[in-house]
Amino acid sequence: MKIIIIVGTRPEIVKMAPIIKELESQGRDCFILHTGQHYSYSLDKVFFEQLELPLAKYNLEVGSGLPGEQTARILTGVEKVLQTEKADIVLAEGDTNSVVAGVLAAVKLHIKVGHVEAGLRSYDRSMPEEINRIVADHCADFLFAPTPTARKILRGEGIPEEKIFVTGNTIVDAIYQNREIAKGRANALKTLGLKPQGYFLVTIHRQENVDDQARFISILEGLNSVGAEFDLPVVYPIHPHSQKRITEFNLPTKALRLVEPVDYFSFLQLESSARLILTDSGGVQEEACILSVPCVTLRDNTERPETLEVGSNLLAGVAPERIIEQTRVMLGRQNKWRNPFGDGTASKRIVEIITGGEDG
Ligand code: UD1
Ligand code: UDP
Repeated sequence: MKIIIIVGTRPEIVKMAPIIKELESQGRDCFILHTGQHYSYSLDKVFFEQLELPLAKYNLEVGSGLPGEQTARILTGVEKVLQTEKADIVLAEGDTNSVVAGVLAAVKLHIKVGHVEAGLRSYDRSMPEEINRIVADHCADFLFAPTPTARKILRGEGIPEEKIFVTGNTIVDAIYQNREIAKGRANALKTLGLKPQGYFLVTIHRQENVDDQARFISILEGLNSVGAEFDLPVVYPIHPHSQKRITEFNLPTKALRLVEPVDYFSFLQLESSARLILTDSGGVQEEACILSVPCVTLRDNTERPETLEVGSNLLAGVAPERIIEQTRVMLGRQNKWRNPFGDGTASKRIVEIITGGEDG
């Protein structure tokens, strides 16, 4: 059985890594097809190096561009590879343009598709990710739902029971596999001159937040106020997309500690020791929850409602006063929620399901 793993962006590399490792350890016939959606060293190669992943057999090098153009380049590129390689199954993870295009290319050639992290919904169709998730889920043959909530959503959309598997989220596997290694291999706090519990950690990169000048200004104001009220540094490893907008809109960021995006081990350290995390990232909401660090999400909705239910996360939107208010509430909570995203064996389960438990 030949398995192709499609990845395109930072979170897909992190969340696919445990599956790739599991397939490798079983000696399975598999390889990585990288779309090249992310190409900067700090969003791409650094993760391959740290997680000791095999190099991609193909890199389509599609780069950045208008969404339709980027998606089209991925679709055409993946189709070509699939025609050459005759795979039995294609695995894609999450909700990026790489995922929707990769999945479409496969189904049109009648190749089986496994969608990892299926069944997430923000119910906000203005987000590109929401459209990508819906399409990927409705094309997939194997839907790996991280939680029972995701499974219920998929059933509600008419996806047959036998296609859905609740596996947990592979981000838990990634954390469990790398948390201890990260402690010994990175010294991010020292490098940045930070004390444990002595800073806020921020990541903001979603299109709806950073491409909208008024929303981005409002977020930055809120972050400034949080730093000032608690007299702590606000550290923001900034995604190049957000940096581009800050330069273009000429936005003030003096009150924040902007740094380049950091490697995975350093980021795990920064998350683990933060007083609180403010984010609009999907993966970071999950990681904060798993690492028992309080989180405030600067969005109006989340496709990770489990984090709200267990009490690790609050939605704040982007109004400065609301960002401060929700930060105060989260700081007053005890960090004692349960982890709803599984026990760190999602990757093993996924591999067992796609291979039917047959020997490698
Ligand atoms: C993409 C995903 C988003 C995901 C994020 C993970 C889509 C629609 N969006 O957003 O869901 O949360 O990845 O980080 O698929 N850029 C670089 N270097 C790179 C890649 C991008 O500088 O390696 C800059 C370019 O200026 C580019 C911009 O970032 O125009 C946006 O890149 P793009 O791939 O369109 O979306 P992301 O914001 O990265
Ligand atoms: N991450 C990282 N360095 C950073 C910021 C994030 O290693 O400077 C990792 C983080 O640990 C998580 C993933 O990137 O696993 C989240 O990616 P991102 O926020 O870009 O995407 P999303 O999850 O929102 O799709």
